[in-house]
Amino acid sequence: MRKPFICGNWKMNKNVAEAETTINDLKDKVAGIDNVEVGICSTALCLTTVKRAAAGSEIVTGAENIYWEDSGAYTGEISAKMLADSEIEYTIIGHSERRQLFGESDYEVNLKVKSALKHGIKPIVCVGETLAERKADQIEAKVNFQVDAALKGLSEDEITDVVIAYEPIWAIGTGETASAEEANRVIALIRENISQSYPEAAKKVRIQYGGSVKPHNVEEIMSQPEIDGALVGGASLEADSFAEMITKTA
Ligand code: G3P
Repeated sequence: MRKPFICGNWKMNKNVAEAETTINDLKDKVAGIDNVEVGICSTALCLTTVKRAAAGSEIVTGAENIYWEDSGAYTGEISAKMLADSEIEYTIIGHSERRQLFGESDYEVNLKVKSALKHGIKPIVCVGETLAERKADQIEAKVNFQVDAALKGLSEDEITDVVIAYEPIWAIGTGETASAEEANRVIALIRENISQSYPEAAKKVRIQYGGSVKPHNVEEIMSQPEIDGALVGGASLEADSFAEMITKTA
């Protein structure tokens, strides 16, 4: 009932020409796959190029961040309204790199989620624990706190459009992954927590796993019943490896 969503997060990689070439390659390699939603989140600079290159395919596009106001004197920012005007479908919100390197707070994440939904942009909200929190047995407390804060004030209908990405911070870009069973366990806890306030939305909301998902481990991860997709960093940069992951999920 929940369509798997494999989404690349290119982070601060690729210039415009590289973005275009990668999408053109990817398009050919994933043509005809319709049981997996395929997305690419790129820098703001490459977004319209990615969107244009993806035309005629099922590949959806997303930003990596937004600001919550629609327009105004906010130098360096882009808004959900601007994404909507360019027919961008998704935006990542609250990636751990934004939280850690740019001091983004749970309160700001919530403002961004609301702004995205107001403009019909689907947010991919990232949550996850540090290694210290994992060792202190605080995984559940941390992720539930982040999810509750991100979804605060939303209607049950709005929540069905949110994608959550569970990304344990220690697994990002390190080659280490939570075991598939462990990722499944935490994602089940997140869904259970959402179901306490929003039982219908909890059945529909898609929860991805992210953190060193690669062609060699994607099948095991995606075979878990609670895991609805993957948010992929490094392995999404090459069309070959990303397409292999999509084909293995399809
Ligand atoms: O958002 C995706 C991410 O942070 C995971 O990155 O390189 O470990 O797949 P990576």
